Amino acid sequence: MEIEITAEEREAIKTTVAEALEKNSYRRDRLLPILQEVQGRLGYLPREAMEQIASSLKIPEVDVYSVATFYNQFRLNPPGEHQIKVCMGTACHMAGGHIIMDSFARRLNIKEGETTPDRKFSLERVACVGCCALAPVVVVNENVEGKVRPTRVDGILMALGKEIGKKNEEEKR
Ligand code: FES
Repeated sequence: MEIEITAEEREAIKTTVAEALEKNSYRRDRLLPILQEVQGRLGYLPREAMEQIASSLKIPEVDVYSVATFYNQFRLNPPGEHQIKVCMGTACHMAGGHIIMDSFARRLNIKEGETTPDRKFSLERVACVGCCALAPVVVVNENVEGKVRPTRVDGILMALGKEIGKKNEEEKR
């Protein structure tokens, strides 16, 4: 799902990318630190930033995109106001973590790795967070929720201010 960018954000992206490129002397072999710098400052790697980096370094956009998607330290969507991280470590996966992920995705009407258009929620997978005895685990903002069942998904979202009574646009169709 495409997230809209304001004119102000567009400007901030431009400046940030230009400074990151400058700091790394526009060197192609510095692509990774350039991406890290941009993400460190913006919180994610917007498509516009990757386009600007590609054209400034005179390399295909797909090369920048490949690096950004290869390393899971990079996120391609802005973090939501509320960040929902579903653990997909072995214990959580075995305990049905993927069902929990699907429940959040359906309810928020986004896919894993995406952010809702109003930027209120983002949904991502994480590796083991170290509380396997509580599998399946979801980290909501900084709080660990253990033994999460699909029936708890609505409650978690409602506690974060999501209106559940209102059906998703997708569900109406
Ligand atoms: S696998 Fe999820 S907490 Fe360890």
